[in-house]
Amino acid sequence: MGPLLELFSGLGAAGLAWGGPVAAAVDQSAAANETYALNHGHAPLAWNLAAVREAQLAAFVAPRWWLSPPCQPYTVRGASRDREDPRARALLHLLPLVARLRPEVVAMENVPGFVPSQSRGELRAALIAAGYSLHERLLCPSTLGVPMRRQRYYLVARSDTGEPHRSDFSTPLARSPTRALAGHLDPHPASVLFLPEATVRGFGYSADLVDEADPDAIVNCFTSAYGRSPLRAGSYLRDRAGVRRFSPEEVLRLLGFPEGYRFPEAMPTATRWELAGNSLAIPAVRAILAEAGVAGPPET
Ligand SMILES: C[S@@+](CC[C@H](N)C(=O)[O-])C[C@H]1O[C@@H](n2cnc3c(N)ncnc32)[C@H](O)[C@@H]1O
Repeated sequence: MGPLLELFSGLGAAGLAWGGPVAAAVDQSAAANETYALNHGHAPLAWNLAAVREAQLAAFVAPRWWLSPPCQPYTVRGASRDREDPRARALLHLLPLVARLRPEVVAMENVPGFVPSQSRGELRAALIAAGYSLHERLLCPSTLGVPMRRQRYYLVARSDTGEPHRSDFSTPLARSPTRALAGHLDPHPASVLFLPEATVRGFGYSADLVDEADPDAIVNCFTSAYGRSPLRAGSYLRDRAGVRRFSPEEVLRLLGFPEGYRFPEAMPTATRWELAGNSLAIPAVRAILAEAGVAGPPET
């Protein structure tokens, strides 16, 4: 298959998962683009996808498109305003462009709250009218051996199969044994990650706390608010030295980024957490692409 057009590219997880050449990446975040350029050797285009013109996208020879649009319109934290949320505009703006430019494959990721949304209804209607076969499902990396829950909606639409549409929103069962969390941790965690005991006591039972020594530990999804919101933005770790946050590099490891992937040296930890929390679970992307028959089997 030909090159990939990576839209809402962030850190570039979709390109890493898919492999092969990337025709172009597009994202309006300067911090994401700086990190992307450092690791991928080419800079994303800093376009606003809510206003991109058809001719701008038609200029790329890219039969495969990946879209990771913002999830806030479909989350409780983001007030679930669906298509009324301005952050949903870019996805909705792209629908007629997809239908006219007709890439061979269009794939997308979002939060489970996208499933009942009107935006998904419009996405499906546009793709079906343009002759695509849809493969939709929820998938969590914890079912693929990753010690992290990050249940997400995935769509792979193909223009070349004529197959019936498939949507599966049941909870999948674990397919492989979970790898130990300990193997994803920094050997020398930075002292700034540790929390004062009083803060930990203040959490009571509301924080999700996992133990480094627990071979079955599974962390909860890290969101872009990790480090900013004390609760429901990701797990904390208890190790021999105390209770701490996971480092942004540990979050990337849990998302399946390669070991050499790095943030710009001067980038603050809060920005790193935000970018990592916005990104994709690479093993889950590989699995859905393999299942839809547009890439090889997922790496183990
Ligand atoms: C959920 S994140 C996707 C992250 C990406 N998949 C990754 O590997 O890190 C959404 C991304 O869309 C970008 N974005 C949001 N609205 C945009 C717009 N209107 N135009 C371009 N990029 C946008 C954000 O900057 C953010 O990086």
